[in-house]
Amino acid sequence: MGTTLIKNGLLVTSQGERKADILIVDSKIAYISENLDVSLMEEARTIDATGLYVMPGLIDAHTHYHLISRGTVTADSFIEGSRLAAFGGVTTIVDFADDNKISLAQSCEERISQMQEMAIDYALHQGVYKYRDSLEKELEEIKKLGIGTIKLFTTYRDVGYLVEDREELKKVFSLCGKLGLMVSVHCEDDEVITSLSKAWDGTYFPKDHADLRPSEAEAKGIQYVGDIAYETGCPLYVVHLSSKAGLEVVRKLRARGGEVIVETTPHYLFLERKKLEGPRGALYVMTPPLRTSEDNRALQEALINGEIQVVATDHCSFTLEQKLTNPDVRKTYPGIPGTEELLPMLHTLVDEGKLTLKDVLRLTCENPAKYFGLYPRKGTLEEGSDADILLYDPEQEWTLTASALHSACGFTPYEGIKVKGKVVKTFLRGKCIVDGPEYHGKTGDGHYLKVSR
Ligand code: URP
Ligand code: ZN
Ligand code: ZN
Repeated sequence: MGTTLIKNGLLVTSQGERKADILIVDSKIAYISENLDVSLMEEARTIDATGLYVMPGLIDAHTHYHLISRGTVTADSFIEGSRLAAFGGVTTIVDFADDNKISLAQSCEERISQMQEMAIDYALHQGVYKYRDSLEKELEEIKKLGIGTIKLFTTYRDVGYLVEDREELKKVFSLCGKLGLMVSVHCEDDEVITSLSKAWDGTYFPKDHADLRPSEAEAKGIQYVGDIAYETGCPLYVVHLSSKAGLEVVRKLRARGGEVIVETTPHYLFLERKKLEGPRGALYVMTPPLRTSEDNRALQEALINGEIQVVATDHCSFTLEQKLTNPDVRKTYPGIPGTEELLPMLHTLVDEGKLTLKDVLRLTCENPAKYFGLYPRKGTLEEGSDADILLYDPEQEWTLTASALHSACGFTPYEGIKVKGKVVKTFLRGKCIVDGPEYHGKTGDGHYLKVSR
């Protein structure tokens, strides 16, 4: 792959910023120093990054590319997902393997082999949807396959994701604690949702979605698994926190001494439930649902004051046709796109002076890399790290629109939002895969990352 020198840029990582040049040799960052001179090196390519920021490639730690669920498949498969991610400056994703309830290793290996189409790097979280006597052995096996996190649900009994029995759930936490696996949970209490829908005499339009899955369900779900995590001495990773009520439970769990790591997404920071109204409301259906502007504000404040550790996207895209076909929100495929919008949306908080770019890189590079066992190979710019590098023009102004973005779903939930700052080049392990409007990513070039926690 050769030698590339990125000169005259401003290096920005979660640790700070400085003027320095980066020498990439093959797939790694070889040297970082001021005024590197490669004139004596034959075949060294020099890229002038004057006026640009040089940043680590982002990690989207929560994606569902090519998700087969509810009798359909999402719009962005591994090829489309890799491409849109690369344009958004994301060079690593962490996706999910479902639990086939027979063998976790088999489930995991199957997903890894499907994902060989990826053009950017990827790791996996492993779903666990059922307790069984063989679970300890199965968890040991997936750990050897490079898994660092399991994913549980406190809802979706209807699709078979819920481990119902508390004692069994507790055993899952204990086993993960013993083996050093992170436990991540989608927290919405199934009982709250089902009893509410039994008593419901309203309509089932998208506008009703937020009332059918209220924030109390999230709060109760977090409390439930937070208690189990505490009893078993295990850290808890809450995925896609959506509400102020949920955040308040996190605060209480932490005050008691529990280790709770919180992830949220751009849609819970910036979009409110009003979006669910009107003829295109179904486009904004995901679970948990969008909440109120007060919830948006509470999560933004929590992000600013350091109570939230990771921002990922839960990218799970369906086409306009898939989303809009059935007017009954109980039948709407849940999920929206987001990987490509991650950096531009978070950057709006930088423009408003609420976060620094370093904060954004802590939330999307350093922290996900650390929690998911990828640091310092990913998530930073250090000598020896993978050369996953973005050249970012901080002055470029543009508008998020479906046509300016690259998802195959045909829409963006952030349509019309004006943003400042754009990725102009993306390097994956030293190879330039996005150069302005051109995509040079290659199907199959992505590496499966075995994580070490
Ligand atoms: O609606 C969503 N979030 N779909 C993706 C699957 C999940 O629950 O995370
Ligand atoms: Zn979820
Ligand atoms: Zn998800």
